[in-house]
Amino acid sequence: MLEPTRQTGNDTPPPRHVAIIMDGNGRWAKQRGLPRTAGHRQGAEAVRKVLRAAADLGVSYLTLYSFSSENWTRPEGEVRDLMGLLKLYLRSEISELNANGVRMKIIGDRSRLSDDINQLIDHAERTTAGNTRITLTLALSYGGRQEIANAVRQIASRTASGEISPDMIDETMIGASLQTDGIPDPDLVIRTSGEQRLSNFLLWQSAYAELVFTDRLWPDFGHDDLADALAEYGRRERRFGATGSA
Ligand code: IPE
Ligand code: IPE
Ligand code: MG
Repeated sequence: MLEPTRQTGNDTPPPRHVAIIMDGNGRWAKQRGLPRTAGHRQGAEAVRKVLRAAADLGVSYLTLYSFSSENWTRPEGEVRDLMGLLKLYLRSEISELNANGVRMKIIGDRSRLSDDINQLIDHAERTTAGNTRITLTLALSYGGRQEIANAVRQIASRTASGEISPDMIDETMIGASLQTDGIPDPDLVIRTSGEQRLSNFLLWQSAYAELVFTDRLWPDFGHDDLADALAEYGRRERRFGATGSA
C-alpha cells in the first residue's frame, strides 16, 4: 500500500511512462446511492485532472485503460453510456488537449467501435500528431492477449509469404508488431480501487513495470495520489533480473 509520506528515495529516475487501470467508478457511485453512469461521468473528470497532473509532474507518456475487450460483456445500457461519455470526451477535449501539447493515440480493437467514434479518433490523432509535451494513449476495446494474437498473426503471414524467416522473430519484432510500437514500455502501472490484477492490460509491455495499487476509487484519484504513486515508484529498486545494490 502507499505510504503517505513523500520522499524522493533512491536514485530511480522519474518514470517516463505511467499506465493506469482506472477502476472503481461503479463502487464510487454505489457508495453515494447513484447510478453507475454517475461514477463513469466523475471518472471522466478524473481523467482531465490526472492528465494535467501527469504533464505537470513531468511524465512523458500516460496510458489510460478506458474500456477492455471484456467490458463489452457489460449490460448494453452501461456500454452505451460509456461510449457516449467517450464521444463527449473526444468531441469536447481535443482543442484543449491540442492547446496543451498533448499527443493523443488510441490502442485497441477499433473494428468494434462505432463509425462516429472512429471518425472522432482519427480526427483526434491527426489534430494532435505533432504535439510533444505528453503522449496520452487511451486503451479502448483493448485486450493484451488480443493484441499479442494480432501481432503473431501479422508475423506469421510475413513468414508464410517468405518476407521474413522464423529465425528473424525476436522480442524487438514482436514489440514492433504491437499497437504500442513507438511508445516505451510502462515504467509504472497504477491500479485504483484496491483490486490487484492486470485484467488483460499491456501484458507484454508490463514485463518489468513497477506495480502500485491504491484503494482510492478512480473518480477520487487526483494530483496528490499520482504524486504519491510516483514517490512510491521512486523508492523502488528496479533490478531487471540483475543483482541489487545491497
Ligand atoms: C472502471 O470502473 C471503468 C471501467 C471498467 C469501464 P468500473 O465500472 O469497473 O467500477 P467498479 O469496479 O464496478 O467499481
Ligand atoms: C479493468 O477494469 C478495465 C478497465 C479499467 C477499463 P474491470 O473492472 O473491467 O476489471 P475486472 O473485471 O475487475 O478484472
Ligand atoms: Mg471494475
